[in-house]
Formats: sequence, C-alpha cells, structure tokens
Amino acid sequence: MTLKLGVIGAGAIGKEHIRRCTQVLQGATVVAVSDINPDSAWAAAALPGVCAEVYADGHDVIRSTDVEAVLIASWDPTHEEYTLAAIAAGKPVFCEKPLAMSAEGCRRIVDAEIEAGRRLVQVGFMRPYDEGYRALKKAIDDGAIGAPLLLRCAHRNPKVDESYTTDMAITNTLIHELDVLRWLLNDDYRSVQVRFPRSTSHTHGRLKDPQIVSFETRKGTLIDVEIFVNCQYGYDIQCEVVGETGVARLPEPSAVQMRRDASLSTAILTDWKDRFITAYDAELQAFINDVAAGRLRGPSAWDGYAASVAADACLKAQKNGGSVAIALPERPSFYAC
Ligand code: NAI
Repeated sequence: MTLKLGVIGAGAIGKEHIRRCTQVLQGATVVAVSDINPDSAWAAAALPGVCAEVYADGHDVIRSTDVEAVLIASWDPTHEEYTLAAIAAGKPVFCEKPLAMSAEGCRRIVDAEIEAGRRLVQVGFMRPYDEGYRALKKAIDDGAIGAPLLLRCAHRNPKVDESYTTDMAITNTLIHELDVLRWLLNDDYRSVQVRFPRSTSHTHGRLKDPQIVSFETRKGTLIDVEIFVNCQYGYDIQCEVVGETGVARLPEPSAVQMRRDASLSTAILTDWKDRFITAYDAELQAFINDVAAGRLRGPSAWDGYAASVAADACLKAQKNGGSVAIALPERPSFYAC
C-alpha cells in the first residue's frame, strides 16, 4: 500500500523531503503541497516525478480526504499549529524540528496526542538514524568503554547570515545535540551552564560565537558542547565519550585520504544536507513503514518536549551566566519504550 503524504512548507528541506519521498524511499507518494509562498509550492509540485495538488493553505492539506499523513517543513513558529491540527484530524504527522517554539507549546502537543489515545507524531530528529551515532550508542550500550563519564562534543558550521542570533545557537543548532545526547546516554539533563569565550571576528553584533554549553546529566555525566557557527572551514560534528575503561568517538564521514604536494589530507563536508543525508532517508522511511504498521516508534512528541525543556533552560543560562536546573517531568507511561 502507498501512503499518501501532504507536505506543508516547500522550502529547502521541504523540497529535499519531497525529492526523497518521490525518488529514494519506498511506500509513499506526495499528493498535496502547500507553502505560504505559492511559487515555492508550485516549484515543489514541478519536481521530477511529483504529481501533487497545490493548496493555498496548510490546513486544507490536513483536511484533504486524499491526504493520509502530513509532513511539516514550514518555518518553526508554524509547527505547533499544524501538528495540533493533524492530531485533531487523526492523521499521523512528521514534524521537522523544533516541535514548537517553547516547552509549553510542545506540552500542548503531548497532551493532545495522549488525549487522541495513540502515537501520531514523529519529530524530525534524524541523528538517531545516523549509522555513526548508532555505532557509538551500540558501543556504549554493550559496555565497551564502561559507564560514560564525560562527553566532548562540537557542532560547527562554516558560516551563518546576519539573521542568526545568539539564542538560535540553542534553538536551531544545539537542539540536535539536546535530542541525540539523551538518546545516546539513556539519560536526561539535570542542569546547564553557558559560557562565552572571546568571539570570532567573523561574527556580528547580535551573535556571540562560539559558545560552550555544559550539562550535568541525572546520572552525573558531564557534557561540554562547543557551538561554533562561523568556524569557516566546514560542517563538522564531533562527539567523544570518555568511559570508565576506554574512549569512543563518533566516526568521521568517509572520505578519500590524499597524499600530494607534500601533505596528507582528507576533505571535510561543508553542507549539513550531505553530512546526514542517509539519516534523513532512514528517518522518513521509518515513519512511512511505521504508519503502515500502525505504530510510530521514532522520536516522539515527548522527545520534542524534552529537548525543548532543555533548550528553554539553555536560553536562561545564556542570560544569567550561572547554572540553571533542567526540570523535566516524569515521562508519561504513554511514551514508554
Ligand atoms: P526555508 O525557509 O527554506 O523553508 C520554509 C518554508 O516554509 C518556506 O518556503 C516558507 O515560505 C514556508 N512557510 C512559512 N510559513 C508557512 C505557513 N504558515 N504555511 C506554509 N508554509 C509556510 O527553511 P528550511 O531550511 O527548509 O527549514 C524548514 C524547517 O525545517 C524549519 O523548521 C527548520 O528548523 C527545519 N529544518 C530541519 C533540519 C534538520 O536537520 N532536521 C534541517 C533544516 C531545516
């Protein structure tokens, strides 16, 4: 059976998802597209192999009797409204991160989903589908390095434009680590502190760059994440886990090693789309398969909420400079693994 998808938001990642659903993945077809900018919607509908109706309003996509599941890839502030509408319509929904603009917004989605009585939401956190992170988690879960004691992570981007501000380092960039690290460690955060070293000369007045975000988890693991979004040299994701008996590192993406001109070199990726391309494929294929099987198992609304509770604390910590508690309520049994 082919799952009929309606896509809301046909910008960069919306078009990428439409392309992969049409050309790469199995079991789904895009039948409806909407974007607040009609040109973007029409451009997406004209992508090779796509045969989709264009709607002026995202809510019409959700209401369409032709649409069985919804994919939300519009701007962040629209996610909550569309996700709640999809839940109210009883349709499974894949929502790009962040699930909502605040923890309260995510909580409204969690409450609506529990009220609906079945899991309908998958959040677009793709790193748990990345082969490298999966291998790292297996090493930790197998006890290969003993209990994790401390983590050193980095999230580096070549450059960002002037619209990117200090808070976005948390809500737009760190949000991926906020999800993947609690998954990696089977743990939750207890507190956070943010420190700002001397800023790079490549930043602007409204962005302090880089930043160091330091967490303590409930089990006592310490985590340092460096966010550096004008690092100039590439898109570089690092994660090193120091355990009781060894150290495990996230594998580097494979690249040809070259010896020439009296040097040894390996290229580093520059585009986030390339770094996690197979993870994006895998997360959406899992959503399609799980909808067909009648049971969603990917990153849940609760995971979206947990990341958002931590993000809110990070934003406070950016302002006050001290340690801020992260108080995630008990996970409802509805979301038990
Ligand atoms: P974009 O700006 O290229 O595209 C967003 C599109 O949404 C635009 O075409 C815009 O016209 C449309 N839009 C805005 N308001 C709308 C509304 N009310 N109804 C329908 N369409 C509306 O942005 P991009 O990079 O594609 O990001 C989209 C979303 O995906 C963001 O929430 C972003 O955080 C998320 N994202 C997730 C990534 C991941 O790694 N999981 C990577 C990139 C983006």
